[in-house]
Amino acid sequence: MERVFNFSAGPAVIAQSVLEKAQSELVCYRDKGMSVMEMSHRTPMFEEILAETVALFRELMGVPEGYDVLFLQGGATQQFSAVPLNLMATGKADYVDSGNFAHLAAEEARRYGTVNIVASSKEDNYTHVPDVEKIAWNADADYAHITTNNTIYGTRYVKLPSTGDVPLVADMSSNILSEPYDVSRFGVIYAGAQKNIGPAGLCVVVLRSDLLGKASPLCPKLLNWAQQQKNDSMLNTPNTFGIYMAKLGFEWLRDRGGVAAIYKQNVAKAALLYDFLDESRLFRATAQMEYRSLMNVTFVTGDKALDDEFVRFAAAHGLVNLKGHRNVGGMRASIYNAMPVEGVQKLVDVMKAFEAGRP
Ligand SMILES: Cc1ncc(COP(=O)(O)O)c(C=O)c1O
Repeated sequence: MERVFNFSAGPAVIAQSVLEKAQSELVCYRDKGMSVMEMSHRTPMFEEILAETVALFRELMGVPEGYDVLFLQGGATQQFSAVPLNLMATGKADYVDSGNFAHLAAEEARRYGTVNIVASSKEDNYTHVPDVEKIAWNADADYAHITTNNTIYGTRYVKLPSTGDVPLVADMSSNILSEPYDVSRFGVIYAGAQKNIGPAGLCVVVLRSDLLGKASPLCPKLLNWAQQQKNDSMLNTPNTFGIYMAKLGFEWLRDRGGVAAIYKQNVAKAALLYDFLDESRLFRATAQMEYRSLMNVTFVTGDKALDDEFVRFAAAHGLVNLKGHRNVGGMRASIYNAMPVEGVQKLVDVMKAFEAGRP
Protein backbone atom coordinates (compact mmCIF):
# COMPACT_ATOMS: atom_id res chain seq x y z
CA MET A 1 0.00 0.00 0.00
CA GLU A 2 1.24 3.50 -0.83
CA ARG A 3 1.94 5.93 2.00
CA VAL A 4 -0.17 9.09 2.21
CA PHE A 5 1.03 12.58 3.09
CA ASN A 6 0.04 12.82 6.73
CA PHE A 7 -0.57 16.39 7.96
CA SER A 8 -1.55 15.30 11.48
CA ALA A 9 -0.63 17.63 14.36
CA GLY A 10 0.56 14.69 16.43
CA PRO A 11 1.22 11.84 16.53
CA ALA A 12 2.64 12.93 13.23
CA VAL A 13 4.63 11.92 10.19
CA ILE A 14 7.89 10.05 10.78
CA ALA A 15 10.48 9.88 7.98
CA GLN A 16 10.05 6.73 5.95
CA SER A 17 13.74 5.86 6.21
CA VAL A 18 13.45 5.98 10.01
CA LEU A 19 10.49 3.60 9.93
CA GLU A 20 12.35 1.30 7.56
CA LYS A 21 15.43 1.29 9.77
CA ALA A 22 13.27 0.41 12.77
CA GLN A 23 11.60 -2.30 10.72
CA SER A 24 14.95 -3.78 9.74
CA GLU A 25 16.03 -3.90 13.39
CA LEU A 26 12.67 -4.76 14.88
CA VAL A 27 13.16 -8.47 15.41
CA CYS A 28 16.91 -8.44 16.08
CA TYR A 29 18.69 -5.25 17.09
CA ARG A 30 22.20 -5.45 15.61
CA ASP A 31 23.90 -8.57 17.01
CA LYS A 32 21.83 -8.66 20.18
CA GLY A 33 19.43 -11.36 19.06
CA MET A 34 16.43 -9.52 20.43
CA SER A 35 14.23 -6.52 19.75
CA VAL A 36 14.82 -3.22 21.58
CA MET A 37 11.34 -3.80 23.06
CA GLU A 38 12.60 -6.95 24.75
CA MET A 39 15.75 -5.50 26.30
CA SER A 40 16.02 -4.82 29.98
CA HIS A 41 16.66 -1.12 30.54
CA ARG A 42 19.29 -2.13 33.11
CA THR A 43 21.57 -3.72 30.52
CA PRO A 44 24.57 -2.17 28.77
CA MET A 45 22.85 -2.65 25.40
CA PHE A 46 19.97 -0.35 26.34
CA GLU A 47 22.12 2.03 28.37
CA GLU A 48 24.18 2.53 25.22
CA ILE A 49 21.04 3.41 23.22
CA LEU A 50 19.95 5.92 25.86
CA ALA A 51 23.41 7.50 26.10
CA GLU A 52 23.58 7.86 22.29
CA THR A 53 20.08 9.37 22.21
CA VAL A 54 21.00 11.96 24.83
CA ALA A 55 24.31 12.77 23.10
CA LEU A 56 22.63 13.21 19.70
CA PHE A 57 19.95 15.43 21.15
CA ARG A 58 22.54 17.57 22.93
CA GLU A 59 24.49 17.94 19.70
CA LEU A 60 21.44 18.79 17.56
CA MET A 61 19.94 21.23 20.03
CA GLY A 62 23.28 22.73 21.08
CA VAL A 63 22.66 22.00 24.76
CA PRO A 64 25.53 23.65 26.69
CA GLU A 65 27.37 22.46 29.78
CA GLY A 66 25.39 23.03 32.93
CA TYR A 67 22.19 21.58 31.47
CA ASP A 68 20.76 18.09 31.91
CA VAL A 69 18.62 16.20 29.41
CA LEU A 70 15.93 13.76 30.52
CA PHE A 71 13.70 11.44 28.50
CA LEU A 72 10.57 10.91 30.56
CA GLN A 73 7.10 9.49 30.12
CA GLY A 74 3.74 11.21 30.55
CA GLY A 75 3.90 13.62 27.63
CA ALA A 76 4.05 17.39 27.78
CA THR A 77 0.87 17.52 29.85
CA GLN A 78 2.60 15.77 32.71
CA GLN A 79 5.24 18.50 32.63
CA PHE A 80 2.42 21.05 33.09
CA SER A 81 2.32 19.58 36.64
CA ALA A 82 6.04 18.85 36.98
CA VAL A 83 7.03 22.46 36.23
CA PRO A 84 5.25 24.02 39.23
CA LEU A 85 6.00 21.01 41.45
CA ASN A 86 9.73 21.40 40.76
CA LEU A 87 10.06 25.15 40.51
CA MET A 88 7.40 26.98 42.51
CA ALA A 89 9.56 27.39 45.60
CA THR A 90 7.85 30.62 46.69
CA GLY A 91 4.49 29.81 45.08
CA LYS A 92 4.38 32.36 42.24
CA ALA A 93 4.78 32.03 38.48
CA ASP A 94 4.13 34.09 35.35
CA TYR A 95 2.41 32.50 32.37
CA VAL A 96 1.70 33.84 28.89
CA ASP A 97 -1.64 32.67 27.52
CA SER A 98 -0.99 32.29 23.79
CA GLY A 99 -3.29 29.34 23.03
CA ASN A 100 -4.99 26.22 24.24
CA PHE A 101 -1.95 24.40 25.64
CA ALA A 102 -0.52 27.57 27.19
CA HIS A 103 -3.88 27.98 28.95
CA LEU A 104 -3.91 24.37 30.12
CA ALA A 105 -0.36 24.69 31.46
CA ALA A 106 -1.35 27.75 33.48
CA GLU A 107 -4.54 26.12 34.78
CA GLU A 108 -2.56 23.13 36.02
CA ALA A 109 0.00 25.36 37.75
CA ARG A 110 -2.82 27.14 39.63
CA ARG A 111 -3.25 23.96 41.65
CA TYR A 112 0.13 24.62 43.26
CA GLY A 113 0.40 28.38 43.68
CA THR A 114 -0.38 31.82 42.32
CA VAL A 115 -0.34 32.10 38.56
CA ASN A 116 -0.15 35.52 36.98
CA ILE A 117 -1.27 35.63 33.37
CA VAL A 118 1.05 38.43 32.30
CA ALA A 119 -0.28 38.57 28.74
CA SER A 120 -2.94 36.87 26.65
CA SER A 121 -4.02 36.88 23.02
CA LYS A 122 -7.30 35.15 23.82
CA GLU A 123 -9.41 38.19 22.94
CA ASP A 124 -8.00 38.05 19.42
CA ASN A 125 -8.85 34.35 19.12
CA TYR A 126 -5.17 33.57 19.61
CA THR A 127 -4.36 34.74 16.07
CA HIS A 128 -1.05 36.09 17.37
CA VAL A 129 1.37 35.76 20.26
CA PRO A 130 1.46 38.62 22.80
CA ASP A 131 4.18 41.17 22.11
CA VAL A 132 6.99 40.11 24.46
CA GLU A 133 8.39 43.66 24.62
CA LYS A 134 5.19 44.89 26.26
CA ILE A 135 4.98 42.25 28.98
CA ALA A 136 5.54 43.36 32.59
CA TRP A 137 7.19 40.26 34.08
CA ASN A 138 7.18 39.88 37.86
CA ALA A 139 10.73 39.98 39.19
CA ASP A 140 9.76 37.83 42.17
CA ALA A 141 8.19 34.99 40.12
CA ASP A 142 9.75 31.54 40.50
CA TYR A 143 9.68 31.17 36.72
CA ALA A 144 8.05 32.52 33.56
CA HIS A 145 6.30 30.11 31.19
CA ILE A 146 5.79 30.38 27.43
CA THR A 147 4.69 28.03 24.63
CA THR A 148 7.06 28.66 21.73
CA ASN A 149 4.69 27.31 19.06
CA ASN A 150 0.92 27.17 19.40
CA THR A 151 -0.07 23.95 17.68
CA ILE A 152 -3.79 24.59 17.41
CA TYR A 153 -3.75 28.24 16.36
CA GLY A 154 -0.66 28.07 14.16
CA THR A 155 1.35 30.84 15.77
CA ARG A 156 4.89 31.09 17.08
CA TYR A 157 7.11 33.42 19.04
CA VAL A 158 9.41 35.27 16.70
CA LYS A 159 11.34 36.78 19.59
CA LEU A 160 12.12 35.35 23.00
CA PRO A 161 11.25 37.42 26.04
CA SER A 162 13.91 38.67 28.42
CA THR A 163 12.84 37.73 31.92
CA GLY A 164 15.98 38.84 33.77
CA ASP A 165 16.89 36.50 36.62
CA VAL A 166 13.55 34.70 36.41
CA PRO A 167 14.09 31.37 34.62
CA LEU A 168 12.27 31.10 31.32
CA VAL A 169 10.38 27.80 30.96
CA ALA A 170 9.22 26.77 27.50
CA ASP A 171 6.81 24.19 26.20
CA MET A 172 8.47 23.50 22.83
CA SER A 173 6.35 20.47 21.96
CA SER A 174 5.42 21.49 18.45
CA ASN A 175 8.57 23.20 17.21
CA ILE A 176 11.50 21.60 18.99
CA LEU A 177 14.43 20.94 16.62
CA SER A 178 12.67 22.77 13.79
CA GLU A 179 14.57 26.03 14.21
CA PRO A 180 17.70 27.06 16.10
CA TYR A 181 17.29 28.11 19.72
CA ASP A 182 19.89 29.41 22.12
CA VAL A 183 19.31 26.97 24.97
CA SER A 184 21.17 29.22 27.40
CA ARG A 185 18.21 31.63 27.24
CA PHE A 186 16.06 29.03 29.01
CA GLY A 187 15.85 27.57 32.48
CA VAL A 188 13.74 24.61 31.31
CA ILE A 189 12.57 23.34 27.92
CA TYR A 190 10.16 20.45 27.57
CA ALA A 191 8.50 18.81 24.58
CA GLY A 192 6.28 15.83 23.87
CA ALA A 193 7.95 13.61 21.28
CA GLN A 194 5.06 12.90 18.94
CA LYS A 195 5.63 15.80 16.52
CA ASN A 196 9.29 16.41 15.75
CA ILE A 197 10.99 13.58 17.63
CA GLY A 198 9.22 10.23 17.23
CA PRO A 199 6.29 8.23 18.55
CA ALA A 200 4.10 9.35 21.45
CA GLY A 201 4.81 8.35 25.02
CA LEU A 202 8.05 10.22 25.50
CA CYS A 203 8.87 13.72 26.66
CA VAL A 204 12.25 15.41 26.51
CA VAL A 205 13.11 17.78 29.34
CA VAL A 206 16.14 20.10 29.26
CA LEU A 207 17.04 21.55 32.64
CA ARG A 208 19.51 24.14 33.84
CA SER A 209 21.25 22.19 36.58
CA ASP A 210 21.07 24.93 39.22
CA LEU A 211 17.26 24.72 39.09
CA LEU A 212 17.27 21.18 40.41
CA GLY A 213 16.57 20.53 44.07
CA LYS A 214 13.76 23.05 44.58
CA ALA A 215 10.89 20.56 44.33
CA SER A 216 7.92 20.62 46.65
CA PRO A 217 7.96 17.78 49.21
CA LEU A 218 4.65 16.72 47.67
CA CYS A 219 6.17 16.30 44.22
CA PRO A 220 5.64 12.66 43.17
CA LYS A 221 8.93 10.83 42.83
CA LEU A 222 8.51 10.19 39.11
CA LEU A 223 7.89 13.89 38.43
CA ASN A 224 10.89 14.99 40.45
CA TRP A 225 13.51 16.21 37.99
CA ALA A 226 16.42 15.99 40.46
CA GLN A 227 15.61 12.35 41.20
CA GLN A 228 15.19 11.54 37.52
CA GLN A 229 18.49 13.29 36.75
CA LYS A 230 20.29 11.28 39.44
CA ASN A 231 18.89 8.10 37.90
CA ASP A 232 19.53 8.93 34.21
CA SER A 233 15.78 9.11 33.44
CA MET A 234 15.44 5.56 34.74
CA LEU A 235 13.80 5.90 38.13
CA ASN A 236 11.45 3.28 36.76
CA THR A 237 11.25 1.50 33.40
CA PRO A 238 11.48 4.18 30.73
CA ASN A 239 9.82 4.13 27.30
CA THR A 240 12.66 2.10 25.85
CA PHE A 241 11.27 1.73 22.33
CA GLY A 242 10.29 5.42 22.19
CA ILE A 243 13.84 6.39 23.16
CA TYR A 244 15.24 4.12 20.45
CA MET A 245 12.89 5.66 17.86
CA ALA A 246 13.95 9.14 18.98
CA LYS A 247 17.57 8.10 18.41
CA LEU A 248 16.77 7.02 14.84
CA GLY A 249 14.96 10.34 14.28
CA PHE A 250 17.95 12.29 15.62
CA GLU A 251 20.32 10.36 13.35
CA TRP A 252 18.05 11.19 10.41
CA LEU A 253 18.15 14.88 11.32
CA ARG A 254 21.92 14.88 11.87
CA ASP A 255 22.45 13.23 8.47
CA ARG A 256 20.39 16.01 6.88
CA GLY A 257 22.62 18.74 8.29
CA GLY A 258 20.97 19.20 11.68
CA VAL A 259 18.72 21.99 12.87
CA ALA A 260 20.27 24.79 10.78
CA ALA A 261 19.64 22.87 7.56
CA ILE A 262 16.15 21.69 8.46
CA TYR A 263 15.23 25.23 9.52
CA LYS A 264 16.03 26.49 6.02
CA GLN A 265 13.88 23.74 4.58
CA ASN A 266 11.09 24.51 7.04
CA VAL A 267 11.12 28.19 6.08
CA ALA A 268 10.90 27.24 2.40
CA LYS A 269 8.10 24.70 3.01
CA ALA A 270 6.04 27.18 5.04
CA ALA A 271 6.59 29.93 2.45
CA LEU A 272 5.29 27.67 -0.30
CA LEU A 273 2.03 27.24 1.55
CA TYR A 274 1.61 30.76 2.95
CA ASP A 275 2.47 32.37 -0.41
CA PHE A 276 -0.30 30.39 -2.02
CA LEU A 277 -2.75 31.21 0.81
CA ASP A 278 -1.96 34.92 0.42
CA GLU A 279 -2.80 34.91 -3.26
CA SER A 280 -5.74 32.49 -3.14
CA ARG A 281 -9.26 33.84 -3.66
CA LEU A 282 -10.80 30.88 -1.81
CA PHE A 283 -8.49 30.10 1.10
CA ARG A 284 -6.91 32.39 3.67
CA ALA A 285 -4.45 31.89 6.51
CA THR A 286 -5.86 32.59 9.97
CA ALA A 287 -2.71 33.50 11.96
CA GLN A 288 -1.42 37.06 11.81
CA MET A 289 1.42 37.27 9.31
CA GLU A 290 4.20 38.23 11.74
CA TYR A 291 3.48 35.30 14.05
CA ARG A 292 2.82 32.52 11.56
CA SER A 293 4.02 29.10 12.63
CA LEU A 294 6.48 27.20 10.46
CA MET A 295 5.04 23.91 11.73
CA ASN A 296 1.24 24.26 11.88
CA VAL A 297 -0.40 26.21 9.07
CA THR A 298 -4.02 27.09 9.85
CA PHE A 299 -6.41 28.24 7.13
CA VAL A 300 -10.10 28.50 6.21
CA THR A 301 -12.37 29.16 3.28
CA GLY A 302 -14.82 31.05 5.48
CA ASP A 303 -17.56 28.49 4.80
CA LYS A 304 -17.69 25.45 7.06
CA ALA A 305 -19.36 23.22 4.49
CA LEU A 306 -16.71 24.14 1.94
CA ASP A 307 -13.94 23.48 4.50
CA ASP A 308 -15.34 19.99 5.06
CA GLU A 309 -15.61 19.43 1.34
CA PHE A 310 -11.98 20.43 0.87
CA VAL A 311 -10.81 18.08 3.64
CA ARG A 312 -12.60 15.21 1.86
CA PHE A 313 -11.25 16.30 -1.56
CA ALA A 314 -7.68 16.40 -0.21
CA ALA A 315 -8.05 12.98 1.45
CA ALA A 316 -9.16 11.53 -1.87
CA HIS A 317 -5.82 12.79 -3.23
CA GLY A 318 -3.77 11.13 -0.50
CA LEU A 319 -3.46 14.19 1.78
CA VAL A 320 -4.85 13.27 5.18
CA ASN A 321 -5.52 14.78 8.61
CA LEU A 322 -6.07 18.30 7.34
CA LYS A 323 -9.12 19.02 9.48
CA GLY A 324 -8.49 21.86 11.92
CA HIS A 325 -8.62 21.29 15.68
CA ARG A 326 -12.16 20.98 17.05
CA ASN A 327 -11.71 24.28 18.98
CA VAL A 328 -11.11 26.33 15.83
CA GLY A 329 -12.43 24.46 12.79
CA GLY A 330 -11.16 25.09 9.26
CA MET A 331 -7.99 23.35 8.18
CA ARG A 332 -4.55 22.82 9.66
CA ALA A 333 -1.57 21.45 7.79
CA SER A 334 1.12 20.31 10.21
CA ILE A 335 4.36 20.32 8.28
CA TYR A 336 6.90 19.08 10.81
CA ASN A 337 10.53 18.28 9.98
CA ALA A 338 9.66 14.90 8.49
CA MET A 339 7.06 16.26 6.03
CA PRO A 340 8.87 16.38 2.70
CA VAL A 341 8.60 19.45 0.50
CA GLU A 342 6.81 17.22 -2.04
CA GLY A 343 3.93 16.83 0.43
CA VAL A 344 3.56 20.60 0.77
CA GLN A 345 3.81 21.08 -3.00
CA LYS A 346 1.12 18.47 -3.52
CA LEU A 347 -1.10 20.20 -0.98
CA VAL A 348 -0.72 23.50 -2.85
CA ASP A 349 -1.50 21.76 -6.16
CA VAL A 350 -4.61 20.12 -4.69
CA MET A 351 -5.77 23.44 -3.20
CA LYS A 352 -5.32 25.06 -6.60
CA ALA A 353 -7.31 22.30 -8.28
CA PHE A 354 -10.09 22.63 -5.68
CA GLU A 355 -10.16 26.39 -6.17
CA ALA A 356 -10.18 26.13 -9.95
CA GLY A 357 -13.29 23.96 -9.76
CA ARG A 358 -15.24 26.80 -8.11
CA PRO A 359 -16.61 29.95 -9.71
C1 LIG B 1 2.29 22.86 22.47
C2 LIG B 1 1.74 21.61 23.08
N1 LIG B 1 1.85 21.42 24.40
C3 LIG B 1 1.37 20.31 25.00
C4 LIG B 1 0.75 19.33 24.29
C5 LIG B 1 0.23 18.11 25.00
O1 LIG B 1 1.10 17.09 24.75
P1 LIG B 1 0.89 15.59 25.33
O2 LIG B 1 -0.29 15.04 24.61
O3 LIG B 1 2.19 14.94 24.98
O4 LIG B 1 0.68 15.68 26.78
C6 LIG B 1 0.62 19.47 22.90
C7 LIG B 1 -0.04 18.39 22.12
O5 LIG B 1 -0.41 18.52 21.00
C8 LIG B 1 1.13 20.64 22.30
O6 LIG B 1 0.99 20.82 20.98
